[in-house]
Amino acid sequence: SIPCSMPFFMSAVQQAIHKSGDIAQALLAHYDAHARTLPWRTPPGQGFANPYHVWLSEVMLQQTTVAAVTAYFQRFVARWPTVADLAAAKDDEVMGEWAGLGYYARARNLHKAAGKVAFELGGIFPADVAGLRDLPGIGPYTAGAISAIAFGQKSTVVDGNIERVLARQYAISTPLPAAKSEISAIYAAICPDQRPSDFPQALMDFANAVCTVKAPGCASCPLAASCMAGRAGTADNFPVKAAKKPKPSRRGIAFVAFDADGRCLLIKR
Ligand code: ADE
Repeated sequence: SIPCSMPFFMSAVQQAIHKSGDIAQALLAHYDAHARTLPWRTPPGQGFANPYHVWLSEVMLQQTTVAAVTAYFQRFVARWPTVADLAAAKDDEVMGEWAGLGYYARARNLHKAAGKVAFELGGIFPADVAGLRDLPGIGPYTAGAISAIAFGQKSTVVDGNIERVLARQYAISTPLPAAKSEISAIYAAICPDQRPSDFPQALMDFANAVCTVKAPGCASCPLAASCMAGRAGTADNFPVKAAKKPKPSRRGIAFVAFDADGRCLLIKR
């Protein structure tokens, strides 16, 4: 059932615009009361975080949980307090400090991007999405997150957690990944002019604490009144995901890859 003040023929994006103020206010109020204290953040409502810290944490968080990242982040900033310090480090030192975080292309790109910022951009991170995307290892999500969190820009910031919250709030029936553009449009419609740096982090913390993957806390949810899936008791059904292609299973003790010219693939760890 749809709240009676809302015309039933509205699209999800139109609905988002219609009630954007309420949702943003409820999320920011939840963030003010329950924000996680994380070493790369500033507390709610207290300006923007250090761009170097935001960039480093976002690259580390790309495929890794907050719990696993925190100690790595703290060791990196203790050893290399600025992007210029990181740029001046040896490649092997950076790889060594990264060891255990996985997805090592991230560390190589991190070091390359540090060099670009330190040696070509005078140590200043670009503030906008386009400039940030020119740095190695920064895709649309990471560029949006840095420009919003470190520079207060009203960029679109949609990760898997934010996708889940918005897909439930608006009962998006389009399966992911096709629903991504619709969800981004909804984000842009509800992102407030005030506090665009806190807003994505408010969504992330709400996703982490209330609108969880399993057993979402609908009974005590501060966004329950406007949540279309929650009101219908179907939060568990969202986000809808396209059926995955079955992966062939391969069993073995060691795998060796050769290219068409017979060269053997080796990776330095
Ligand atoms: N995951 C990615 N970016 C994050 C952030 N800034 N805070 C919490 N979780 C995150």
